[in-house]
Amino acid sequence: MNILILGGGGREHALAWAVLQNPRCDRLIVAPGNAGIAGIADCADLDITDPGAVVTFAEEESVDFVIIGPEAPLAAGVADRLAEAGILVFGPSAEAARLEASKAFAKEVCNACGAPTAPYARFTDAEAAKAHVAARGAPIVVKADGLAAGKGVVVAESVAEAEAAIDAMLGGAFGQAGAEVVIEAFMAGEEASFFVLCDGAHVLPVGTAQDHKRIGEGDTGPNTGGMGAYSPAPVMTPEVEARALDEIVRPTVAELARRGTPYRGVLYAGLMIENGRPRLVEYNVRFGDPECQALMMRLGGQALDLMLAAAEGRLDRARVHWADDHAVTVVIAAQGYPGAVEKGAPIGGLDGLPEDSFHMMFHGGTAFAEGRIVAAGGRVLNATARGATLAEARDRAYALAGAVELPGGLMRRDIGWRALGKPSHEG
Ligand code: GLY
Repeated sequence: MNILILGGGGREHALAWAVLQNPRCDRLIVAPGNAGIAGIADCADLDITDPGAVVTFAEEESVDFVIIGPEAPLAAGVADRLAEAGILVFGPSAEAARLEASKAFAKEVCNACGAPTAPYARFTDAEAAKAHVAARGAPIVVKADGLAAGKGVVVAESVAEAEAAIDAMLGGAFGQAGAEVVIEAFMAGEEASFFVLCDGAHVLPVGTAQDHKRIGEGDTGPNTGGMGAYSPAPVMTPEVEARALDEIVRPTVAELARRGTPYRGVLYAGLMIENGRPRLVEYNVRFGDPECQALMMRLGGQALDLMLAAAEGRLDRARVHWADDHAVTVVIAAQGYPGAVEKGAPIGGLDGLPEDSFHMMFHGGTAFAEGRIVAAGGRVLNATARGATLAEARDRAYALAGAVELPGGLMRRDIGWRALGKPSHEG
């Protein structure tokens, strides 16, 4: 089987690594890929948000199955066009991808199917939005409706902070993505990420994780795309997982099927859990990055069989074969992240790292320059490891991270702290 993965970050390196372990994969192409992916697969220069270009490329390369990593090609309708061309695809249609591409749409679907989430209101007018905030008080959450690369959510501690977010979003800070804002009640509790494969009718959980969104240790400082993750998330007990499936995921999937836009792909439910009760924070229509790196480390080659089952509508007969294991990924980011970063710093120590079913250095923003691998993005590397316990996985991931040198690079030293307790070396 010839397989094409769209994307070029740590998530796609992890997907490629897992897919290549499955004997059903004869040839793997990743577009655009990165310097790490180039070591294990063919990389192609392709505009992955252009549905016509992706279909033409897939036909020319006799691709049998396309796995779409990021949200932008999904929102652009790449899965729709591949399906129309008769090419098997893992990822939802543009209409179903609105669960991530429009926060207001996701809220409307939740209300229609009774999935628990925070009460909300939507605004295009700043004065009306501010009046709503003044009436409700803080803390309160302000979200840009559209895709804003993970930066469109502000958990405002004060009314002034909420007003500033409203002004920034409706004032054009995120372009069209901020033309409408969703304002919702603050939810207390512990966050977790829940990943569920869907084939339009059936659902299959493929793991839980906890991300570390803030740049600083102890969850301080600005938000990032994620500085590390671990799987499974202890807060997702079997009871919480069953409630999340029954009360949130299944009703959502049924509602989209009822509307004639069935959901196929991975549904990533960002949950807030308080006293054993899960509520939806947001939906994403793809694997999380860096959560995917930890998930793939645990799933290995079976990930391809599961994604094929989702694409082919036979998830009711699919099963996940779990080992009793844990995985951790630690992000190494470039100097300046999450702000503007310096690109081009050479990365040392990559040769000779262990690469096996317990350790993988998944590349995020890397490229080749003058024969060397250099930093080419904000989140550069993902040191990922598996172990019998979370502590063992964490220790292996940090040993791996410590073996590479990225000038000015930064990483959090406390990945997993909610489950493991604060590390003693934390300042
Ligand atoms: N790690 C969060 C995300 O992928 O959206």
